[in-house]
Amino acid sequence: MTVATAQAHPNIALVKYWGKADTAANLPATGSLSMTLDIFPTTTTVRTTDDHADRVVLNGVERDGTVRERVVRFLDHVRGLAGRDDRAEVVSWNTVPSAAGLASSASGFAALAQAASEAYGLHLDTRALSRLARRGSGSAARSIIPRFAVWHAGDDERSFAEPVEAPAIEMVIATVDAGEKAVSSREAMKRTALTSPFYPAWITSTAQTLESALEACRAGDLDRLGRITETNALRMHAVIQGSDPSIRYLTPVSWSIFDAVARLRAEGLRAWATADAGPNVCVICPPEDTAVVAERIGALAEVVVARPGPGSASREPA
Ligand code: DP6
Repeated sequence: MTVATAQAHPNIALVKYWGKADTAANLPATGSLSMTLDIFPTTTTVRTTDDHADRVVLNGVERDGTVRERVVRFLDHVRGLAGRDDRAEVVSWNTVPSAAGLASSASGFAALAQAASEAYGLHLDTRALSRLARRGSGSAARSIIPRFAVWHAGDDERSFAEPVEAPAIEMVIATVDAGEKAVSSREAMKRTALTSPFYPAWITSTAQTLESALEACRAGDLDRLGRITETNALRMHAVIQGSDPSIRYLTPVSWSIFDAVARLRAEGLRAWATADAGPNVCVICPPEDTAVVAERIGALAEVVVARPGPGSASREPA
């Protein structure tokens, strides 16, 4: 019996991943860019056992059905790499408001990748760990990396996340609704690719957008990175809404936050909004503007401030 514990944080994409080139290996259709947060960690312990079945306990509740299946499939992959077939108990504590578009699957599978690979005796470097986490959930590839990460499109070997330098930013996260979302991002991604007529344009434009965003990062150009971030998020929501049946994640409150951010810019502040597959809105700004942005957005929704955070890391088993 071997045991390992690891911790990882969510990340929010500045250039989004929305679409897969391959579902089996979970390869993205385009690369993406993100900030790993310093809040809402997930801590996961994996203990190999003599039992006949895997056990999955999330936030104190034993899971079955699709959540368990997804974790078991991931463990099967780890066991394949390790040449082992003993089962495991996975105990995970997640402080992210679940399934509200705040990337709980990213921190969850990043922590699971690190804990499971260690429990099964694999010694993976950061790149291999990012590739492994990707199989659990695409965005998890980026949560392995501290601060800012680019996750490359490409084949299984090349599709990993690695660190990039970015201008100093902080993030004001507005929780518009912490409930379960109506359509999971996995399902919505599939529907978008199959039915949205805008999907091909999303794919070609996002590849170019990522190049521009990386250039802005290299140049330390926050204004350019901010504009790219907001435009890319709105384009993602547009391609999603173009699905049939249509999917709409942003609510009137989400839009009111985008409007408030535009007003802040008109007043000379530097702030740009983004949103994942849910109604919550994340606003990036330079550290000197965070207090004002948090106060103004705080009038519309509950806010928390996040800073660039650590990558996944081993922890002493609890
Ligand atoms: C909108 O990583 O949750 O947050 O690979 O199917 O698990 P799967 O998808 P997931 O999708 C994240 C979508 C997004 C954009 C992003 O984080 O880049």
